Amino acid sequence: MIRKRFIQLLLVLGILIVLPATGQETYSELQPRQVVLTWQSDPSTSMTITWRTDERGGQHTLRYAERLEISPLKWKTLEAETFTFEETSAWLHTVELTGLKPGKKYNVFIDHPEQPDLFYFQTMPDENNRRELVFLAGADSRSRRDVRREMNELAAAENPEFVIFDGDFISTALSEQQWDDWFDDWHEQMITADGRRIPVIPAIGNHEVDGSYLQPRENAPFYFHRFIAPEPRNYYVLQLSPDLVLVTLDTDHVTEITEQTPWLERTLEEHKDSRWKMVQWHVAAWPSVRDFEGRIPTKIRDHWVPVVEKYNVDIVIEAHDHAFKKTVPIRDNRRDDENGILYLGDGGWGAPIRDTKDPDDYWWLDEAVKIDHFWKFTLSSDGRDLQVDPVFRPAGSSFSLQR
Ligand SMILES: [Fe+2]
Repeated sequence: MIRKRFIQLLLVLGILIVLPATGQETYSELQPRQVVLTWQSDPSTSMTITWRTDERGGQHTLRYAERLEISPLKWKTLEAETFTFEETSAWLHTVELTGLKPGKKYNVFIDHPEQPDLFYFQTMPDENNRRELVFLAGADSRSRRDVRREMNELAAAENPEFVIFDGDFISTALSEQQWDDWFDDWHEQMITADGRRIPVIPAIGNHEVDGSYLQPRENAPFYFHRFIAPEPRNYYVLQLSPDLVLVTLDTDHVTEITEQTPWLERTLEEHKDSRWKMVQWHVAAWPSVRDFEGRIPTKIRDHWVPVVEKYNVDIVIEAHDHAFKKTVPIRDNRRDDENGILYLGDGGWGAPIRDTKDPDDYWWLDEAVKIDHFWKFTLSSDGRDLQVDPVFRPAGSSFSLQR
C-alpha cells in the first residue's frame, strides 16, 4: 500500500530517475530483484541492502528517508557498488546505510523507472529505546521448494525483527537456478504485511560449498557474494541489542574449526557483559539424527563447546540433521539443569525431514522429532526474559502429535 502510494507520488512529481543504460538493456533487465537485507556493522545504526539485476546497466541508486511524507527530493541518495562473479549471470548491487538512528523505521526506494522496489526496515534498539524483540532461527531450506515457501510464509507471519539462518540454503552450491529460486522466494515472502523487509543473519553450511568441507572460499561463490555479512562473512559477531549478542561460526566448510577457536574466545570475552549470548553453527555437535562420534561433531565438542561453556552462552543454534531437536541443558559433557547450555536444532525449513534417534536412548536429547520447524524467540523489552517457542509446519501442529 505505501509502495503504491509513494510511486504514484513520485510519478506525479515527475522525478523518477531514469537509469542511464550502457547498452541495449530493457527496463525489465534492469529491474531490482531479490532484495536481501543483512548487517555488516552495528545493527542499531546500519543496514546493508543488496539486490540483483539481469544486466549491468549504468548507475544503480537507492534513496532512503525516515518519513514517507518528506519531499522525495530530500531523500538521501546512495549509489550502489555493482559487481558480478564468474559463476553467475547476475549483476549484484549493494549499499550499506550507516549513521542511522537506533530503533527507527527507514523507507527505502531502489530506483527503477517502471518497477522500483519500495519497502521499509527498522534499525535495532540501543539502551535508550529498548523494545520487545521477536526473532526466528532456522536452517536447511534446500530442496523442497513448496515446503520452503510454506515455512517462509509462517516465518513472515511472525513479524520477526530478523531471521537467523543456520546454513544449507540450497542443495547444489554452484546451481544458479537454485539460488535464484531461493532469493526470489525470500524477496517475495520475507516482507511483513505493511512492507517491512526482514533481515537475514546467515551461516555457511556444507551445501553452500562445492566440496562441502575444508574448501577454499572460492568454492562458495554464491554464499560469499550474495550475503554481505561482516568479513570474513563465514564467521562474525553481531550485537543485536544491548541485551543480545549472536556469534556465527563455520563448521569446517571454508575455515577450520580450530582456526576460529581463538577468535571465538576473544569475541565472547569482548561481549561477556551481554545479558544473552547466542551462537549459531551448522553441523550439530549434539546430533538428533547423525553419528555422535562423527568427525565434525567431535571436533566441535573438543574445541568450541568448552569455550561456549566458559563464557556461559545461553543457546546454540544447530542444524544439518533436518529434524526438530532440543537438548537437555549440557555442561561438562553431561546434563546440568542449573548451568547447562541449550542446543536447539536441527534444521527443517524445506530440506528432506528425517527420522531421529529416540531421545530415551541418548542422554543429550530432550526432544527429537521428524517435523518441519523453526524457532521463535521473544526477548522482553527490559531484556530480562527470553521466551523460546518452536513453530511447526503445518501451523499450529505440535511435536507430541507427531511421535
Ligand atoms: Fe548440512
